[in-house]
Amino acid sequence: MPKVSDLFFKTAIVWLILGIGAGLQMAISGDHSAFPAHAHINLLGWVTSAIFGGYYALNPTKAARKIAMVHYGLYTIGLVVMLPALYLMLAGNTALEPIVAGGSLIVAAAVLVFAFVVFSTGTVRTVSDLSPATR
Ligand code: HEM
Repeated sequence: MPKVSDLFFKTAIVWLILGIGAGLQMAISGDHSAFPAHAHINLLGWVTSAIFGGYYALNPTKAARKIAMVHYGLYTIGLVVMLPALYLMLAGNTALEPIVAGGSLIVAAAVLVFAFVVFSTGTVRTVSDLSPATR
């Protein structure tokens, strides 16, 4: 598996553990006010990171480009800024709204980087390109 895929999956599973933790906390306490943070931790953190990791695993040529690591770094920094601030903002710390906004813009920028990766030309390998030993 390419390094960038491994990093995306390792980061994704950490978000899933945190997202499920937030879900259990809501379910047990009966206070569901943090549900937008829970949903974003799971969907941006777990699901989307894992999809990115899967994309690069299927496209090793693109995974080897420097821009793939830029995408990973920018996206993950954006989530680390945005998601805890969103959780705390929903818990009543409304002063954190600009941090949430800043993190969201970093995440959006990282998604544009990914769009560039997807649309840029590069060899897309198929299973038949792999040597029998790696199939
Ligand atoms: C043990 C695991 C989980 C628990 C205990 C849990 C618990 C909860 C709870 C209590 C709510 C609030 C429901 C409400 O007030 O309407 C919620 C909402 C939500 N959860 Fe989870 N959740 C879990 C896993 C996940 C996962 C893995 C995902 C996505 C991949 C997810 C996505 C969502 C979404 C999108 C909402 C918002 C739904 C709405 O708009 O009402 N959850 N969850």
